[in-house]
Amino acid sequence: MSAKLQAPRGTFDVLPADAAPRHGVERAAQRILEAAGYRRIETPAFESTELFARGVGEATDIVQKEMFSFEEYSLRPEGTAPVCRAYLEHGMHKLAQPVKLWYLGAYFRHERPQAGRYRQFWQVGAEAIGSHDPSVDAEIIVLLHALLGELGARELRLRLASLGTPASRAGYRELLQAYLREHADDLSPEARTRIDLNPLRAFDAKDAATQRVMDRAPRLADHLDAEDREHFDAVTELLGRAGVEWELDDRLVRGLDYYTRTIFEFTSDALGAQSGVGGGGRYDGLIEQLGGQPTPGCGFAAGVERMLLAAEERPQPEAGCDLFLAWEPSERSDAFALATEARRAGLAAQLDLAGRSIKGQMKQADRAGARYVAILHPDGTVLRDMDSGQEEKVERPGVVAGVLKGRHAL
Ligand code: HAM
Repeated sequence: MSAKLQAPRGTFDVLPADAAPRHGVERAAQRILEAAGYRRIETPAFESTELFARGVGEATDIVQKEMFSFEEYSLRPEGTAPVCRAYLEHGMHKLAQPVKLWYLGAYFRHERPQAGRYRQFWQVGAEAIGSHDPSVDAEIIVLLHALLGELGARELRLRLASLGTPASRAGYRELLQAYLREHADDLSPEARTRIDLNPLRAFDAKDAATQRVMDRAPRLADHLDAEDREHFDAVTELLGRAGVEWELDDRLVRGLDYYTRTIFEFTSDALGAQSGVGGGGRYDGLIEQLGGQPTPGCGFAAGVERMLLAAEERPQPEAGCDLFLAWEPSERSDAFALATEARRAGLAAQLDLAGRSIKGQMKQADRAGARYVAILHPDGTVLRDMDSGQEEKVERPGVVAGVLKGRHAL
């Protein structure tokens, strides 16, 4: 006997019942982001592995452990590096800056699957490339806040920090490395091996002994330079003006290496361990890292599945059915032609496709939520108003017009 075929571990089918809320996310994202001048971009599902090694960072978990790679390519684990690649490839520096782009698509990470964590998941993201102004950081955060509000995400918290610039971070990094080496015996093996390449990740450790060491570790927030601090204060002032509440989280760690200055994450206490709903920040060095001129950027990405998990369940309106065509066996061809005519006239029309009895077809019309049913008998046609139960004899050529008239009268 052959093994049962199933969706790969950590992936899922989007069944018709799941499609409506996901479509709601897309509509809300499009409305909110395009109203603010962001235009949609889609990049390929796979890119050269080197893009992510250079963009996301060699030392990150994403690049070291989580990419699905084949030949010289990898399925995209995130969207920022690809969007920056597209910005460079299409010479978007010639457009008015910042160039504001948004995207929605599938992303892939070879992580251990659990509730809210998948190997294929969807992200909505936005990137504003080409301006240093703190109003960009604030706008990105305010737009994600608006999207999460629109979707009804519950128990949200916005955590915010500044990572400074690579220059201001370098001194702090050395300080932190010295501190970590001093306490190496108390660190988890993972945190210990990361001291050289990625010492900040120790703040993210799950292990209790490492966490105790990190409680007393020097904080980047105390080592920012004056310009970093000024930028951060401007961002938080603007968030205040927009009425967006935030909390300083000087242990915030993001899993990507491209960040400079502002980083943020929205978490939902309504979710379990995977509480990150969306996050992002500024990446002023990324485009240069990919071979372009120094160009600042800032953006967010939010997980579609996590946003829906964090949102209240809301009843979704059914697609609706203006007209259902029921037919006796000899009338199939007229029913088919009428359904086509009705659809061309803009009506939501269905016809029986399973050779049911007239009684069975009426039940099916009811299940479809049909407003009118046209019943095609060999000796004539009856149009039934499903709300009032009223029936009238009609001429076949008048069926579509009759339903259109009835619909306008509502
Ligand atoms: P990220 O924090 O790695 O950032 O991912 C953003 C969001 O994607 C997360 O908050 C989470 O909701 C969702 N997500 C990530 N991994 C998974 C997974 N395995 N299963 C389900 N959902 C997941 C980025 O990807 C950056 N590109 C964000 C950004 C844009 N920074 C600047 N611009």
